[in-house]
Amino acid sequence: MQKKILVLPGDGIGPEIVAEAVKVLEFFNSKNGDPFVLETGLIGGSAYEETGAPLPEETLGKARASDAILLGAVGGYQWDSLDRELRPEKGLLGLRAGLDLYANLRPAILYSQLASASTLREEVVSGLDLMIVRELTGGIYFGQPRGIRTLENGEREGFNTLVYRESEIERIAHTAFQIASRRDKRVCSVDKANVLEVTGLWREVMEKVAREYPEIELSHMYVDNASMQLVRNPKQFDVLVTTNMFGDILSDCAAMLTGSIGMLPSASLNRQGQGMYEPIHGSAPDIAGKGIANPMATILSVSMMMRYSLDSPEIADQIDAAVGRVLDAGYRTADIYTDGMKQVGTSEMGDAMIAVLNGEEI
Ligand code: IPM
Ligand code: MG
Repeated sequence: MQKKILVLPGDGIGPEIVAEAVKVLEFFNSKNGDPFVLETGLIGGSAYEETGAPLPEETLGKARASDAILLGAVGGYQWDSLDRELRPEKGLLGLRAGLDLYANLRPAILYSQLASASTLREEVVSGLDLMIVRELTGGIYFGQPRGIRTLENGEREGFNTLVYRESEIERIAHTAFQIASRRDKRVCSVDKANVLEVTGLWREVMEKVAREYPEIELSHMYVDNASMQLVRNPKQFDVLVTTNMFGDILSDCAAMLTGSIGMLPSASLNRQGQGMYEPIHGSAPDIAGKGIANPMATILSVSMMMRYSLDSPEIADQIDAAVGRVLDAGYRTADIYTDGMKQVGTSEMGDAMIAVLNGEEI
């Protein structure tokens, strides 16, 4: 049966990097008798320019009807002063909420070829393989009430609400424990339970769900300490599970351990296993259109899509192996370039992937 993939290039470097990932999908289409039907849609600032909305109804409808979504990135300076509801980020958040994509998986894996590209010492990061499980549809990102109000004395006050229901914590806890059971069986839950009631509840619910997974070791860490431990000794972690905003922050930090944020994919899943796949880096407007962005995070997002939504782990394995071989051959975009390597642009990196997948020498 054919699988429907909705491709949403978005803004900034989004279209450039997605084009390379689409080459990879098309490679498997021509090799395996067209298993994937690709559709494209508008999201973010580019959707706003064409339709007046960052998440047009049509895009949400197409997303609901697809087996998986591949997203590039959203955002750009030119839309920063728009009304919040119209900003590109709202398109992404609307898609996450609209499809109930509550489980965000952000693996941080260091390719051995890139150990020297990290700003951290090689022995701190070599062999790194951790998974951040970020709650994605709750917490302060979506909590009500929110806004900016004017007080009686005329001063303005901004406010957001950090709120989690037990059921929201439970389901992300299950995700984390299930993922850990296929890994090193350790979950570290990150909270701020010493100060915030809501994360006190988070901790309680984590403990409760953990009792259903006796083989998993659960520990807890305050978020300030977790951010320090991530750069001090990141290899102590197997699976980290945390709230929406803490996960946003810690995942950028974890990404940098691997040398470049340009290498890290992510999956956002709902209960039905439907998923959206995107690189964790943003739209990088400063380098957009220059053809120098690293497409690997997006290509690796396709690999995650094959594994988690499209039941094609053999394709995922081939993509992962090809990334390793392209790096072995010395191909590097600017973000991961080190002396003596072959510096290439976005499309050359994608072409190298296709050549390797074709069994060619590069
Ligand atoms: C991410 C991004 C988004 C987030 C932005 C673009 C809304 O930083 O996916 O980490 O904050 O979730
Ligand atoms: Mg982020």
